[in-house]
Amino acid sequence: MVVAKPKTIQVTTRLTMDIAEIAENTTVLRSLDWDRDRFDIEFGLKNGTTYNSFIIRGEKTALVDSSHAKFKQVYLKALQGEIDIQQIDYLIISHTEPDHSGLVADILEMNPNIIVVGAKVALQFLDELVHRPYNKEIVKSGQKLDLGNGHELEFVSAPNLHWPDTIFTYDHKTQILYTCDAFGMHFCDDCTYDEDLELLNEDYLIYYKCLMEPNARSVLSALKRVGKLPEVKQIATGHGPLIQHNLTELVGRYEEWSKNKAKAEKTVALFYVSDYADSERLAKAIAQGIGKTGVVVETMDLRVSDLSEVRVLTELASGIVIGMPPRSMKELTQAPLSTILASAGKKQAFGLFETGGDEDEAVYPIRATLQEAGLKEAFPPIEIEDAPTESTYQLCDESGTDLGQVLTRKKAIAKMKSLDGDLDKAMGRLSGGLYIITASKGDASSAMLASWVAQASVEPLGITIAVAKDRAIESFMHVGDRFVLNVLEEGNYQHLMRHFLKRFKPGQDRFEGVETQPAQNGSPILTEALAYIECQVVTRMEGDDHWIVYSSVDSGRVSSLDGLTAVHHRKVGNHY
Ligand code: FEO
Repeated sequence: MVVAKPKTIQVTTRLTMDIAEIAENTTVLRSLDWDRDRFDIEFGLKNGTTYNSFIIRGEKTALVDSSHAKFKQVYLKALQGEIDIQQIDYLIISHTEPDHSGLVADILEMNPNIIVVGAKVALQFLDELVHRPYNKEIVKSGQKLDLGNGHELEFVSAPNLHWPDTIFTYDHKTQILYTCDAFGMHFCDDCTYDEDLELLNEDYLIYYKCLMEPNARSVLSALKRVGKLPEVKQIATGHGPLIQHNLTELVGRYEEWSKNKAKAEKTVALFYVSDYADSERLAKAIAQGIGKTGVVVETMDLRVSDLSEVRVLTELASGIVIGMPPRSMKELTQAPLSTILASAGKKQAFGLFETGGDEDEAVYPIRATLQEAGLKEAFPPIEIEDAPTESTYQLCDESGTDLGQVLTRKKAIAKMKSLDGDLDKAMGRLSGGLYIITASKGDASSAMLASWVAQASVEPLGITIAVAKDRAIESFMHVGDRFVLNVLEEGNYQHLMRHFLKRFKPGQDRFEGVETQPAQNGSPILTEALAYIECQVVTRMEGDDHWIVYSSVDSGRVSSLDGLTAVHHRKVGNHY
């Protein structure tokens, strides 16, 4: 084991580089992005992130991944400080997402002789990124690349972790496994390694849930392939600290979490073209909405799929979502689409989306084919022509949740009926007030009737709210989000309660016909509320079927000092 103190190059206060030797002839260049506060649409970052790149020196030299384009100046300078870029023989692309491949074009510009190594699809994607001819070597799982001096690199296919084109790289000499996104975390600090597990637990889990859990079966397949390698002594991830001290524990967590997820009875197969228009982000939003109901989502790129995999995934799934491919990719996507249509069964539910307007394959003939085959449409086709906004993602998220609820309805009803009668009634005697939570983000807004609300702190003031995991407003109540808690008044709440208890269609305006005014934090205040309190989410605890959301309180007002809070008296405790 080599543990060298990293040298730090300070660039600005918040973009820095750390360089460290991590094994014989092996160097990590970590681009530290201290202030990045959001990654994709899925989650806010509390601790920034890092983009890790690696130099392996045998008789030949390989660079594994590069960095985000925002690090262009400092990364290239740091790289040049470590190695003459002209001496790099291979550039291994674990996948083509820009946080790792953002500087590939610049490196090729400096050394056009480099051979770029990656999965077939990764190199297809890369062609569109670099816009110039380059030397390439397509590798498959199990294939090896000998750098000399014992550094024999073996590639392991890991599709969907977290892009369809992902490969891992294993160095037989140092026994380091380079996994890029997998086993990573968005955690930026000076430590090269995972010394302090306590510090990392939360970020490791959140990262897994956002990036890996939607592809739990793919995680298990990749772990199986990794299990066939000789011993792995380090995992060199693309984000956050490298894993060495807690390797067995952290890999074990991936296995356990993924097995639990894959055991879920229902799966949705989500097919789309990953780098076309906005389909990646829309697919993620739909997957996020489905995931709220506990249903597993398996995603597959329509271009990369082998037809037998498409058939097996379609047949195993309870639901199917298809993002329409562009007509220009007809040749590549027609066979998978036909396979999906031929393998779909009448007990399945489906949903369709399109992102490129006229560019897309027509959605309606496919819709008609699936309906004729007896499949149930879970949400109307989502047709996005303009650049997506928050409300577009809200529409996708809520459509996904509708699909998940169609698939889990029977189970939810059975669960509701299964509670012991006496206990059920006793639980029903727990009462709470009646409240409406309101929130907005960009051009999207949401609301929910709540009664599981309690004061939870005095200094500073804080409250907890239990929010069911499949509620639409859950997406508006992540750490850092702001919302308003509207307190309903005894004797004047029935119409508001009825309104907000209605089942809304995906993306439907919750406030139509309701009088509101904006709070300081931008969320709507219900004009008829007895009181309102402006809140900001501080932390969330995961319960079984609810999130317990703890929020600080910024300000609030009461409209009538004599008014009393409406109380929610219930008869049973197993549903609202
Ligand atoms: Fe960290 Fe999938 O990029």
